[in-house]
Amino acid sequence: MDKPSADIIVKNCSELLTMAGGGGKPKKGTMLNNVGMIRRGAVGISDGVITWVGREDDIGSSVKKSRRTRVVDAEGGVVMPGFVDPHTHIVFAGSRENEWLDRLAGKSYLSILKAGGGIISTVKATRKAKKQDLIRKGLGYLRMMLDFGTTTIEAKSGYGLTLKDEIKILECIKELNSIQPVDVVPTFLGAHALPPEFERKEDYVKLVADTMVPEIARRGLASYCDVFCERGAFSAAEAKRILEAGVAHGLKPKIHTNQFNDIGGTEVAAKIHPESIDHLDVISKKCLDDVATAGSVAVLLPGAAFFLDGGIYPDAKAMIAAGVPLALGTDFNPGTSFCYSMQFILSLACIKLGLSVEQALNCATINAAHAIGMGGVVGSLDVGKQADIIIMDLGSYKLIPYSIAGNNVNTVIKKGFIHKVKDPHKADWTE
Ligand code: NIG
Ligand code: FE
Repeated sequence: MDKPSADIIVKNCSELLTMAGGGGKPKKGTMLNNVGMIRRGAVGISDGVITWVGREDDIGSSVKKSRRTRVVDAEGGVVMPGFVDPHTHIVFAGSRENEWLDRLAGKSYLSILKAGGGIISTVKATRKAKKQDLIRKGLGYLRMMLDFGTTTIEAKSGYGLTLKDEIKILECIKELNSIQPVDVVPTFLGAHALPPEFERKEDYVKLVADTMVPEIARRGLASYCDVFCERGAFSAAEAKRILEAGVAHGLKPKIHTNQFNDIGGTEVAAKIHPESIDHLDVISKKCLDDVATAGSVAVLLPGAAFFLDGGIYPDAKAMIAAGVPLALGTDFNPGTSFCYSMQFILSLACIKLGLSVEQALNCATINAAHAIGMGGVVGSLDVGKQADIIIMDLGSYKLIPYSIAGNNVNTVIKKGFIHKVKDPHKADWTE
C-alpha cells in the first residue's frame, strides 16, 4: 500500500492527544477517561486533511515527504485537536456591563429580563445595528476564540425576534463562516424571549413556528432550531411546538433548558430527541432519566453559572454515571457568559463540576463536535478528519485546566492553514 503523503508534519510534541476511540459516537462513561495519548507523537497533513497519526520515530518509514513538506516544530508542547465550542451567541450589538453590575449588587437575571432588560436590551440594540457592524464585532470575537484554540463553533441567532432581524443575524453568521478560519454552525433561536411588541405569547409562538421556521429553513440559513425553555421565556409545550415545526422543516432540534428552573423541558427532550440538551444546571432524578432517554449530548455551560455569580452548577458526575455523553461550551453571550475561552471552561469543569482533566478534554473536543453534528469531521485527530490542531506551551496536558484564565496556545492549524498566535515560550514551570 502507498504511504500517505504529507505537505505538513507536526512533530516534537511532548504529548499528542488524539481524543480518538469514540467509534464515531459521543464518548460516555469510562470512554471519557481516554484522551488517546501518543507520547512523542506526530501528525501528517495533506490538503488540510489528516493523513497520518503515529509516533515521531515512525515518520521516516510511514509517511511520504516531498521537498515541499513543511515541518511544524511543536517545541516539546502539547498537541491536540482544536477546541469545539458547541454553544455560543456571537452576533449581537452593544454590551451589558451595567446589568452585570446590578446583578453583582443582588438583582436576579430573570427579574432583569422580566423588567424588559436582559436579552431584550440586546435585542433592541441588535435590531438597530447594521449588518456590517454586527459582522465586524463577530469577527473580533471569532478572532479571540481562534487565538484561544477554538477551531469550530455553533452560533445562535435570537437577538432579532422578528423574521427580518433573525434573517439578518443568520446572514451575518453565514458571512462570518465564510470570511475567517473558524467553522461556524448556524442555529435559529427565534424563541429566545418574548419580543416587547407582543402581548400574547401564543401569537409570537405561532409566528416562530408557522412563519419564521419555514422561511429560515427555506433560505438554508440554519442547521438547528433551538428554544429557551425557562420560566419567563418559553414553556415546555411552546418549546415542543416550535421544535416540532423545526423538525418538519429539516431543522434539527436543540433546547436550552433547566438553567434556573425545571419546567418540563427535559420531558420534551425525551420525546423529541434533540441533538443536544443545553444547560441542565437544575435537574431532578426524573430529569436525568429524561436526558438519558433522549439520547442527546448534554452540553454543560459552567461559564454562565460562574458569570452569574451564585449560579448553580450542573451535576456532571451524576450525568456521567447515568451514561449521558457530556460536552462543554462557553455559552459566549453578553448577558450570562462573556467568555470566549474554552481553556477557562476546562478549568471550571475540573474545579466546579468535578470532572477529571481527561473527561473535560473529551467534552471540549470530540463530544462537543458530536453535539453540533460535526463529530465525523472534527474533534479528534483521526486520519480523514479536518486538520484542526492546536499546539500549547505546556509539557503536560494536565497543565491545561491547572493554568487558569490564561492562553497557552501558541499555534493553531485550521484545515492545514497555520495561524501563529505567539512564539512558544516554554517557561520553566512547564518542564
Ligand atoms: O444561554 N439562556 C438564554 N440565553 C443565553 C443568555 C442570553 C442573554 O442573556 O443575552 C444563555 O445563557
Ligand atoms: Fe445560550
